[in-house]
Amino acid sequence: EQINKGKYEHYMQKEIHEQPESLTTTMRGRLIHGGSSKAKTVLLGGLKDHLKTIRRSRRMVFIGCGTSYNAALAARPILEELSGIPVTLEIASDLLDRQGPIYREDTVAFVSQSGETADTLNALNYALENGALCVGITNTVGSAIARKTHCGVHINAGSEIGVASTKAYTSQIVAMTMLALAIGSDSISSEARRESIVDGLVDLPSKVREVLKLDNEMKDLAKLLIAEQSLLVFGRGYNYATALEGALKVKEVALMHSEGILAGEMKHGPLALVDENLPIFVIATHDSCFSKQQSVIQQLHARKGRLIVMCSKEDAASMMNVGKYVRVIKVPHVEDCLQPVINIVPLQLLAYHLTVLRGHNVDQPRNLAKSVTTE
Ligand code: G6P
Repeated sequence: EQINKGKYEHYMQKEIHEQPESLTTTMRGRLIHGGSSKAKTVLLGGLKDHLKTIRRSRRMVFIGCGTSYNAALAARPILEELSGIPVTLEIASDLLDRQGPIYREDTVAFVSQSGETADTLNALNYALENGALCVGITNTVGSAIARKTHCGVHINAGSEIGVASTKAYTSQIVAMTMLALAIGSDSISSEARRESIVDGLVDLPSKVREVLKLDNEMKDLAKLLIAEQSLLVFGRGYNYATALEGALKVKEVALMHSEGILAGEMKHGPLALVDENLPIFVIATHDSCFSKQQSVIQQLHARKGRLIVMCSKEDAASMMNVGKYVRVIKVPHVEDCLQPVINIVPLQLLAYHLTVLRGHNVDQPRNLAKSVTTE
């Protein structure tokens, strides 16, 4: 496996740009579509003997830290929809701090790029002691989490060297979406929905290639934002995770304060921060939350917010009628549950360019480690 930087200056840059390929490897051999086979479905070899048990579990708990937690948050809506099982999320350290209840009837999934994060590993030991079925979702074959879990899915994104996770995030979302498809594959009522998600997965690498063309636009935006103290990122629904993950990228590599905000909570505090100075990035791509997000934009406008809006290409014209923006970022529209894979890419590019322009270390941000192996 090639782990040099090739034509890129930094590993993070390389890893952002290789997402069409890493996503392809995540899905390789796992999607059944087209050809003579009638059903469009997924095949996850590491789980096939456990799917019945998973379907019978009383809830699913997804546990991770940092970006891996955000990936689980992005996949939760589709996991809930296709499984019909309640899905809860836990930050590993918080579950351990609370010694929160884990039951024998639970399926607990451990999401970790490295498979070695201490808190996630400790949470795994805790869930094993409590008798839950433990599923690993890792990028590292032979890692502690991959070895200790009962079954799992390797995300096969290839080595990730940059401390800030990029390609692992999008592959984790795709792996968990395939997990949702596998769990739901016995339901006739969701068949059409599952088939359109499989079609969406097949097209996803080319859509990511398309969104990567925003590189220069995001560099220009980074030039505008270079001296800012803070950036808010608003999202909701499928893209609440995009807001958290986008803000995390800006914070961890560009060393700029950034906060991901659930747009539905805007009136419960964040609105007090809005003025003519603070830049606000609003994710408003086309899904069932779109009209609510348009109303959020109107309210931010009314308070003179400096808005950067990310929307679906098809909505760009109507977006311009609402008001003036610092920038409108137009992204390709994909199946709602896959949109977070597209939407994070411009934010990864923005964080990357901000970091370079601000003169910080891209691949090894101050004080941070790729794998946190102590509590
Ligand atoms: C560190 C890394 C992050 C990563 C997190 C969880 O904080 O800098 O990029 O998301 O650990 O790591 P894991 O390997 O468990 O996904």
